Amino acid sequence: MKSILVTGGTGFIGSHTCLVLLEKGYNIFILDSFINSSSQSIEKIILILNEIDKDINRKIHLIKGDIKNQSDIENVFHISNKLNKKIEAVIHFAGLKSVSDSVLNPITYWENNVSGTINLCKVMEKYKCKNILFSSSATVYKSESNKLLSEDNICEPYNPYGYTKFTVERILSDISNRELSEWRIVCLRYFNPVGAHKSGYIGENPLGKANNIYPQLTRVAIGKQSKIYIFGSDWPTYDGTGVRDYIHVMDLAEGHLSAMNYLLKEKPQFKAINLGTGIGTSVLEFIRTFEKVNNVEIPFSFRDRRKGDKAFLVADNSLAKSLLNWTPKRNIEDICRDGWNWQKNNPYGF
Ligand code: WQD
Repeated sequence: MKSILVTGGTGFIGSHTCLVLLEKGYNIFILDSFINSSSQSIEKIILILNEIDKDINRKIHLIKGDIKNQSDIENVFHISNKLNKKIEAVIHFAGLKSVSDSVLNPITYWENNVSGTINLCKVMEKYKCKNILFSSSATVYKSESNKLLSEDNICEPYNPYGYTKFTVERILSDISNRELSEWRIVCLRYFNPVGAHKSGYIGENPLGKANNIYPQLTRVAIGKQSKIYIFGSDWPTYDGTGVRDYIHVMDLAEGHLSAMNYLLKEKPQFKAINLGTGIGTSVLEFIRTFEKVNNVEIPFSFRDRRKGDKAFLVADNSLAKSLLNWTPKRNIEDICRDGWNWQKNNPYGF
């Protein structure tokens, strides 16, 4: 069976994607620095899959390292070749992902997200691995109205995080555009990944302060945080609060599997593809839905708008549906139920 390198594979989206890759029988090599995640997520994946595959351990190779150090990346390819499990493709999650944090620490974001990816591409070139799925973001888009965003929408990032993602896409596009390039490259533009695997064993486990709305919802529900502050009640949306396209992390993980299958069977190319549901949910709607589904109360109050925020970010996902034969199966209620199940089972993360 094919071997895949997953950078950042112990993180929120990475761990859920590793789960679906293993379910399909892939061997996986995980390179992670554990800067914002824990190797515990891999232990939990083994628990989930042990019932269906007693040898699951033999398909997982977890290697601690940092993409900022090119030698750490080389080490993974060296190990995979020694094991005679040549890495066929890379799914590249490793990077920093907080919009608000990127405004405060731009240099750290440029170094991790861009320099780290340049290191990865150099090592891939050296080991003749030319298939990559890149974890991109809807924050690359210029969002000025309440219309669904398609892949040909103008790209004009509005915060350092989004600019690092757009820059990496540009680098990968230049690699693909070379004469006789053999690279197969898909950039997946995520909207808002949330929720957790239905087992409650793995979920979003940000170390330290949570910036995103969803981990704060679950922390308020479990009593680790007193309330939610809603950033802005005067946005040009139906109830004045920000609207986002919240996609269940398992739908996102399955989208990576579909994209991997597409990548490995198609001719060399560069593609950017949205992964979202096409459905917008406001902050107020999210809070009310979470309360109703889980029979909990979420206190909140309003604050000024947050720097770097936009009113409306919702996907046109028709390209993913047609090209990848993928469609999201879970809705906002599933997201609220599954994420709360995770938080209740892991009150202090893991
Ligand atoms: C969602 C909504 C806020 C916190 C995220 C990721 C980023 C990217 C896109 C993948 C907005 C409001 C939030 C709070 C609030 N994902 N909010 N109070 O900013 O859309 O970005 O998805 O690339 O990596 O960070 O997500 O959850 O921070 O905000 O009112 O305390 O909730 O204004 O409308 P965002 P978020």
